[in-house]
Amino acid sequence: MEVVILADATQIAGVAADAVGALLGRKPDAVLGLATGSSPLAIYDEVVARHDAGLVSFRQARGFTLDEYVGLPADHPERYRNVIDRVFVSRVDFAVGAVQGPDGLAADIPAACAAYESAIREAGGVDLQIVGIGTDGHIAFNEPGSSLASRTRIKTLTRQTRTDNARFFGGEVDSVPTHCLTQGLGTIIEARHVILIAIGIRKAEAVHHLVEGPVSAMWPATILQHHPHVTALLDDAAAHRLQLAGYYRETYRAKPDWQGI
Ligand code: F6R
Repeated sequence: MEVVILADATQIAGVAADAVGALLGRKPDAVLGLATGSSPLAIYDEVVARHDAGLVSFRQARGFTLDEYVGLPADHPERYRNVIDRVFVSRVDFAVGAVQGPDGLAADIPAACAAYESAIREAGGVDLQIVGIGTDGHIAFNEPGSSLASRTRIKTLTRQTRTDNARFFGGEVDSVPTHCLTQGLGTIIEARHVILIAIGIRKAEAVHHLVEGPVSAMWPATILQHHPHVTALLDDAAAHRLQLAGYYRETYRAKPDWQGI
C-alpha cells in the first residue's frame, strides 16, 4: 500500500484529482467507483473545477456508488443516489444514467444486490475506486465482522456508524437508517486501483489498523493490504498513529513527479 501523508484535504484533493484526470486521459470510458460521505467532497470539488476549466470530461465514463441506505424515500436528500448527484454527478458531464447505485428501495433485496454485481461486471469492473474509512474501520458499509470475501448485500449499520452519520440527519441518530446495501469487500477489492481518503484525528485508529495492523474482519479496511494497487491519502491528523510515518513521507518525497499514484 502506498501511504501519502499530506497537510490537508486540499492537497489530498489535488493528488486524487490528478489520478482521476490521468485515468480519463488514457481511458475516456473509464469506470469510477464513487464514495459518498464527507471525505471525498474536496476531491469532487477539485475535479469539478478541472472539468469547468475543460481539463477533464466524463462524457464516456461510467460510475458506481459504494452503498445506499435501505428504505429512505426516493426524494430524501441523504439518499446516497441523491447525494452523489448533488455533490458530483450533476456538476460534470456524465451521460444520463451513467452512474448507478444499489437500489435501497428494491422489493427483492437479494435480486437487487445480484443485479448490481452484474452491472459492475458488465461495465468491465471499476478502474478507480475512491473510498473513505469509518471510525470503526469500515469501507463502504462493511462493518466489523464482515466477510473479507463478501459481495453486495444488505448489512446492519453499527451504532457507532449511525452516531457518526447522525450529523447528516439533523443530529438525530434515530433518523439514520438501520440498514444499508453495500458493495462487499470482495467486490471492492476487484477495482484496479483503490484510493482511500482519511482526514482528521477521528480516523487515526482505523488508519493505524488499515496500514500497520494485521488483516482482520474486525477492521474490514485491512483487506486492502491484499490489493496490489492501493493509495492511502491521509492528512497529518489521520496519520498520527502510524509507526512508519517518517518512512512513508520520505518515500513519497523521493518519488518523481511523472510517476503519479
Ligand atoms: C460512504 C461510505 C462510507 C464512508 C465512511 C466515512 O459511501 O461508503 O464508508 O466513506 O463512513 O465517512 P466520512 O467520509 O463521512 O467520514
